[in-house]
Amino acid sequence: MSSFLSYATNKKTLDDINVSKKRVILRVDLNVPLDHNLEVMDTTKIDSSLPTIKYLLKNKASVILISHLGRPKGKVEERLRLLPVARKLEDKLGQPVLYVKSAVGPEVERIVETLRPGEILMLDNIRFYSEEEENEPEFAQKLASYGDIFVNDAFGTLHRAHASTVGIARFLPAVAGFLVEKEIKYFAGIFENPQKPFTVILGGSKVSTKIGVINSLMKTVDKLLIGGAMCFTFLKTLGKKIGKSMYEPDKIDLAYHILEEAKKNNVEIVLPVDIVVASEVTNNAEKDIVSVDNIPDNMIGVDIGPKTIEIFKSKINGSKMIFWNGPMGVFEIPRFANGTLSIAKIMAEEKNAITIVGGGESVMATNIAEVQDKMTHVSTGGGATLEFLEGKKLPGITALMDKD
Ligand code: ADP
Ligand code: 3PG
Ligand code: MG
Repeated sequence: MSSFLSYATNKKTLDDINVSKKRVILRVDLNVPLDHNLEVMDTTKIDSSLPTIKYLLKNKASVILISHLGRPKGKVEERLRLLPVARKLEDKLGQPVLYVKSAVGPEVERIVETLRPGEILMLDNIRFYSEEEENEPEFAQKLASYGDIFVNDAFGTLHRAHASTVGIARFLPAVAGFLVEKEIKYFAGIFENPQKPFTVILGGSKVSTKIGVINSLMKTVDKLLIGGAMCFTFLKTLGKKIGKSMYEPDKIDLAYHILEEAKKNNVEIVLPVDIVVASEVTNNAEKDIVSVDNIPDNMIGVDIGPKTIEIFKSKINGSKMIFWNGPMGVFEIPRFANGTLSIAKIMAEEKNAITIVGGGESVMATNIAEVQDKMTHVSTGGGATLEFLEGKKLPGITALMDKD
């Protein structure tokens, strides 16, 4: 494990460079949840980015912020503009955050030219450009041309080899920000001293990305508790009827393979035994609790049931390290939030365990459950955290300069 750790811990950081009077391109992960009125629902990621931003402004850098929001797939989506995030950041900083409705082009160039030390500009959603996820070199070079230094503080996006995380680092001196440094240091500590039994709780909707991760965690995890939409792919694999629940038909074979591998590796996979089902995913929908053997054809699974919560609790109790990523149900709707909030509280009560939470929505759930400060570490990364935990080299880290 030590060679893997040194690749990440040996990177230059903000402490290694002088930023005064420099134009700093700061990649942040401000992929925050927005509600229907485009209000920021959880500010954890914004708050976590503040130490680096404040340091840069105080040290007279002019700051050009780049972030993505959601997955617009290379096209402008009005509801995914970064304006609400810029306004929230402005409140937190107590100084204006300039915002431009593009990320490259004449408008950006005009503002960048006039940006003074101690001023900050937020570019619009970088994923409005297909070149971002393609890591297109000319696009990366264009972005790089706006600054003198590149600082990557987007911990949650370090697993993406995109133009604004990896491509741009080829054209500028590139260092880690304080958040990236902190998360790396924290997880490095965990790797150096892993605590067993290690229990992982997975849920959420990003089934395809997380199923791959389960596979690679197989060697380190003792117990794997699966809820959220993800559990329906597994239940389907086991021949259960899942009604109209969200699942991924093309991942059935993979789920089967994971169940087999778990047996071979002595990993205990724990699936729900009861499910909260609803006629539709709304607050007024008809709702019921059913066994996983009796999910009605016309109903949707929206949360884990009370028996499952008790079983998950018994598995969590006594673990020495617990990692949770992905809500147990559609917790954004209060009537379907019980499973998710219960898991947050059960974890928080494990005083003798290292408790780690990662993932935008899971972190938000710890906030709603008012247990965030009771966790050992609340990570700003979802997929990035999982990949880091499994020992993959994150391209966003690799792209940064090594310490001399
Ligand atoms: P995180 O951000 O914590 O990593 P994800 O992004 O993977 O989590 O997934 C979060 C989303 O998963 C939430 O918006 C939640 O509504 C959704 N979700 C959880 N369970 C279900 C379910 N049974 N059906 C549909 N969506 C679900
Ligand atoms: C996250 O929310 O985990 C990060 O912002 C990365 O988002 P992505 O999974 O859409 O790349
Ligand atoms: Mg998420």
